[in-house]
Amino acid sequence: MTNRPPYAGTRNPRLAHVPAFREFIASGWEDVAVRPDLVPGAAEAAAEHRRRLSERLPGKSLVLCSGVAPTRNDDCSYAFRPNSDFVWAAAGHIEDATLVLQARAGGHDAVLYMPPPFRPGDDGFFSNALYGELWVGATAGLSEWSEALGIEVRPRAELDSLDLHGGLAAASVTPELAAALGAQHSAELDRALSQLRIVKDAWEISQLRQAVDATVEGFAAVMREVPRAVRDGLGERWLQGTFDRHARTHGNGVGYSTIVGSGAHAPILHWVRCDGPIHPDAAILLDMGVEAHSLYTADVTRTVPASGRFTEAERAVHDLVEKAHRVGMSHVRPGTQYLDFHFAAMEVIAQGLHEWGLLPVSVDEALSPEGQHHRRYLACGIGHHLGLDVHDCSHAQYEDYMAADLVPGVVMTVEPGLYFHANDLTLPPELRGIGVRLEDDLLVTESGAEVLSAALPIDADGVEEWAQRHLAG
Ligand code: GLY
Ligand code: MN
Repeated sequence: MTNRPPYAGTRNPRLAHVPAFREFIASGWEDVAVRPDLVPGAAEAAAEHRRRLSERLPGKSLVLCSGVAPTRNDDCSYAFRPNSDFVWAAAGHIEDATLVLQARAGGHDAVLYMPPPFRPGDDGFFSNALYGELWVGATAGLSEWSEALGIEVRPRAELDSLDLHGGLAAASVTPELAAALGAQHSAELDRALSQLRIVKDAWEISQLRQAVDATVEGFAAVMREVPRAVRDGLGERWLQGTFDRHARTHGNGVGYSTIVGSGAHAPILHWVRCDGPIHPDAAILLDMGVEAHSLYTADVTRTVPASGRFTEAERAVHDLVEKAHRVGMSHVRPGTQYLDFHFAAMEVIAQGLHEWGLLPVSVDEALSPEGQHHRRYLACGIGHHLGLDVHDCSHAQYEDYMAADLVPGVVMTVEPGLYFHANDLTLPPELRGIGVRLEDDLLVTESGAEVLSAALPIDADGVEEWAQRHLAG
């Protein structure tokens, strides 16, 4: 066998196989210092979150990962968005990073492991399209992250020699990494993270306020585009794109897929296809949330008339949903159980549907666990915790979430609706194809609740006035 270099015999060699190229590209670069892109207060909030997690699970080493962006094709990946538990405890939006809280007497030592950026002198600088700085731009390195976060940051490769013998791995840790570290996936850790994340601290609340404020502005931006979407036949896509651009400009992006449902699309709960026209004489259901740079998200819904005026039937449905919404929100305060708002709002909905002759049984029979007939027109949940995830704290157990008492610092949505599908033969024709949801974001305070999204009206008159104002430009 001859000792031929791997690039021999081809006119288009791999650059990493060409010594002259490697030598030439390795030097002659000015140092570019990049500071970590951290929202002010994020590092301090994460340090306090780690302290609370350490206190909750003493004596056990803990592992969390930020994750990696899924590959779309070849070296093109989807946008990276770090795991929310990781962000809560480590703040950094760092791909393929691992936070280890190593147990010691009296607490834990935090070490962050991350891939060092591929800089000049590394082949990855020019050959790695996912992490090479020639491809993705200069990024903060280990020492910069260590300074910004106030914790030790080490190269990811050092994880290979780490043995956490009996440590607990969060859901974000791959089975391979958990096995290599001697850690077990732990429902106890996932549950603890959800429990701790349920109550937001002052910094998290400030982030949620920013997300909600930016979302309220996004609703106005979308409403202003309705005439153009109708006139030029641009449809739901245009309004969806308008909000998504707003969210990307004023935050990190959207907190979930934007829902724009015009006319008969409004009752479709997660209408994220958004490929229909905007009907000029029908209502549009808009369910939209800006995710702030800190990755805390809003989640707000309004149903607005494209013309500035609801039809009589739309207004009747809106009025009933508004009544349920107000009653539901009035149960959000310290000392009530989380689910109280749900049952209170459902009672209003069931009573209203009964009065319209839509229930085949009495209100009591419908509301009983054996009935639930009203849910034909409202099959989804009507609220959830809100934070780094739109459906926040989803690893919490029933008793931590549904059956828990509300306490100050909880942030949650209330979102009753009625969804009358166009092909639902139980409905009178005038109600078919109408969907209305009202969704607000509430902060539980010492004395009650603050509606963070209160800048948007919830009554039909107020919604019409708001719509007309923005339709006018
Ligand atoms: N707004 C999206 C959801 O709550 O499912
Ligand atoms: Mn929601």
